[in-house]
Amino acid sequence: MRYLKLIIKKTIKSIQNLYYSINFKAKMKQREIAWNEIHSNNYYYKNYSGEFNLNPYLLPKDDDELLKFLSNNHLYKMMSKYVTIDNNTVVLDLGCGYGRFVEFYAAIASFVYAIDVTDYIIDICKTKYAGIKNVAFIKNNGYSLEMIDDSSIDLVSCYTVFQHIPRKATQSYLKEFSRIIKPNGRIIIQLSGAQSNNDKRYNDVGLDKKDYKIQYTKEDIKILAMRSKLELKKIDEENKGDGQIWYWVTM
Ligand SMILES: C[S@@+](CC[C@H](N)C(=O)[O-])C[C@H]1O[C@@H](n2cnc3c(N)ncnc32)[C@H](O)[C@@H]1O
Repeated sequence: MRYLKLIIKKTIKSIQNLYYSINFKAKMKQREIAWNEIHSNNYYYKNYSGEFNLNPYLLPKDDDELLKFLSNNHLYKMMSKYVTIDNNTVVLDLGCGYGRFVEFYAAIASFVYAIDVTDYIIDICKTKYAGIKNVAFIKNNGYSLEMIDDSSIDLVSCYTVFQHIPRKATQSYLKEFSRIIKPNGRIIIQLSGAQSNNDKRYNDVGLDKKDYKIQYTKEDIKILAMRSKLELKKIDEENKGDGQIWYWVTM
């Protein structure tokens, strides 16, 4: 009897997986539900407390405070290797999470669109950044940026997001980047990398697993860019240890 129940459960799961692999919109809805669950359980806050916080964010009071803040911020230092941000820059941060990139974008740039598929995290950010006037926190559907005008963004950034989302959604986002980016704009995205097809994880995102790493080879990235009509400028490699590589892609 127990064995039969197990077989029925497995069969239902397989049929469900087949349905979601055929029906992309349903799959993305399922991912949204999974992310809401992850965030409402405070997964990142509990497991990486040094990286994420929920304290109300206040802009630096003056230039000295801003300089001190920027010089202590490792993510800002990392991003500024690739891009320049000033008070004319309109930024879009995709998959903003708790907003740790928003903190320095808001302090320097002219405006920031911070977008995430999870209602729960967007609500947290709206509270955390209440009073910061040059940021809009927007919940989207997980694959489109339809609320953003054509050629309106100077800088698109996306960090630790594409390894968690289906390949089809990533391709859809790159096409959207190509539509929204200004002619001289910059796109900087991080992808989990594989040296070759042999060591790449082929499987697409599971329905209930947050830590499923979707990997890309350099060849895949070239294809993604070409299909999106984006000019690929550079792919930098960062060795994360344990055989993991991250690709930093500038377009
Ligand atoms: C690992 S967190 C990284 C957050 C942020 N980029 C950072 O580094 O602090 C991944 C974020 O991507 C969001 N996300 C997942 N799938 C998404 C999708 N399809 N579209 C937009 N955001 C998504 C999640 O809700 C989550 O906040």
